[in-house]
Amino acid sequence: MPDNAVSFWDAINQNGSSPKLDGVKYSVLALGDKNYGDTFCLAGKKLDQRLAELGATRVVDRVDCDVEFDDLAKEWSKNAFTIFGASKPSDVSDTSDPSDEAWSKKNPFPAKLIANDTLNAPGSAKDTHHIAFSLTGSGLTYEVGDALGVFVQNCPEVVDAVIAAHGFDPSAKAGTKTLSEALLTDYEIRSLLGKTPESGLTLDSFLENLRKLQPRLYSIASSIKAHPDEVHLCVGAVRYTADGIAHKGVASTFLSDRLPLGDTTGIYFHAANHFRLPTDLTKPVIMVGPGTGIAPFRAFLEEREATKAPGKNWLFFGDQKRATDFLYHDQIIAWVQSGHLTRLDTAFSRDQEEKIYVQTRMLQAASELWQWLEEGAHFYVCGDAKRMAKDVDEALHKIIETQGNKTADEAAAYVAHMKKTKRYARDVY
Ligand SMILES: Cc1cc2nc3c(=O)[nH]c(=O)nc-3n(C[C@H](O)[C@H](O)[C@H](O)COP(=O)(O)OP(=O)(O)OC[C@H]3O[C@@H](n4cnc5c(N)ncnc54)[C@H](O)[C@@H]3O)c2cc1C
Ligand SMILES: NC(=O)c1ccc[n+]([C@@H]2O[C@H](COP(=O)([O-])OP(=O)(O)OC[C@H]3O[C@@H](n4cnc5c(N)ncnc54)[C@H](OP(=O)(O)O)[C@@H]3O)[C@@H](O)[C@H]2O)c1
Repeated sequence: MPDNAVSFWDAINQNGSSPKLDGVKYSVLALGDKNYGDTFCLAGKKLDQRLAELGATRVVDRVDCDVEFDDLAKEWSKNAFTIFGASKPSDVSDTSDPSDEAWSKKNPFPAKLIANDTLNAPGSAKDTHHIAFSLTGSGLTYEVGDALGVFVQNCPEVVDAVIAAHGFDPSAKAGTKTLSEALLTDYEIRSLLGKTPESGLTLDSFLENLRKLQPRLYSIASSIKAHPDEVHLCVGAVRYTADGIAHKGVASTFLSDRLPLGDTTGIYFHAANHFRLPTDLTKPVIMVGPGTGIAPFRAFLEEREATKAPGKNWLFFGDQKRATDFLYHDQIIAWVQSGHLTRLDTAFSRDQEEKIYVQTRMLQAASELWQWLEEGAHFYVCGDAKRMAKDVDEALHKIIETQGNKTADEAAAYVAHMKKTKRYARDVY
């Protein structure tokens, strides 16, 4: 379940004491991404099944949406709200009309690239870029914690290779564009690489089988108060070899390698209301952001500096090697020296034999971390979802257990309360 659904899910999954839901009417609109394979829309599917088990009545069949959800969601809302006999709640926004907002995902702002700096020193195994776009003339603004959606293009060499492998004519018509242009901007062709094309495939059926190229989200790495009319990102270029073929991530290498300075690309803002600084500026914050996970915390620290927030700030940062991978080193060290950053703990995993990770540093500082939590600190995690966020969560539970003299269940309840009161927020991918 997503973080904001966990306590609801737990409440309807109590052994023996789950509520009976006879008489409750419901319908589920499940949001997902088919790239996730078997787990596509899994949270929505489970919820749909569980509500039925508890006796609730499904009034409209579940609808499972892939990333292009607008039309299906609109149709589902119309059916569900008609049956519920309710008018549409005011907080359900209608995303169908692009004229609602001047700039939006459906009508992205063409933002000019104004900076692209490598954040790693020569010799690093990583290739991380500080990217800045100008918002001048857009009237757009954002809050720290939000993400930026970026429209991207495929690599022209990959487009050429795909066309050649299929024996198509690059200048053939694909809608209003040539095939080359359409494959560059409109279609996801990443997974075709290196695969043997189906023989006798017509151009029409080839295009029909391709998914639409999706914009990618990046955590915003700047505060607009520190950089008026600009938005910054911290982008890790994805490059890997699989089955002997070199692959590169579409969006991360478009931003790092292919979009020239001064050129524009479409952007839109994606609000992250679950990932906000405390409104009470005196509250302490603890931020855990290894690798590109540093992005929203650079933004948080800039914001807390601009708003002169008196609350304490603690950052855990980690990456492979201190000499080459200490992202935003100068700015972070200046914050330590000025006292804006109350405490900095770094974990460089490949500077010694044994792995030292951010959670290693958390456990070493357990007593002070517990003190901060008891003072009402907000705890944030950003970066890798698969391993890091899980291990950091485990370390947090352990610290609460050992320092707070709690059982595992009591520590879990403490963490659940932090989540409920929005003092534990994650932005993981
Ligand atoms: C809310 C949010 C915030 C984000 N913030 C950031 C951020 O601040 N910085 C950042 O860099 N990214 C961030 N991301 C990730 C970002 O959106 C993209 O997913 C990332 O840049 C990769 O996109 P791409 O188009 O370059 O790669 P794609 O072309 O989409 O390729 C990525 C895919 O390649 C495959 N792959 C990758 N590595 C390997 C490997 N070693 N072996 C085999 N297969 C592999 C996987 O299938 C993976 O899904 C964020 C994501 C979300 C959802
Ligand atoms: N969805 C996507 O397509 C996509 C694209 C780009 C990035 N990402 C995700 O974003 C993450 C961030 O990438 P990044 O290159 O900036 O950093 P990263 O790969 O997360 O590495 C940052 C630091 O975290 C360490 N680390 C590895 N495992 C860890 C664990 N279990 N707990 C804590 N720290 C751990 C790494 O150490 P070692 O490497 O020495 O083990 C390194 O020192 C990636 O891991 C990836 O999952 C996803």
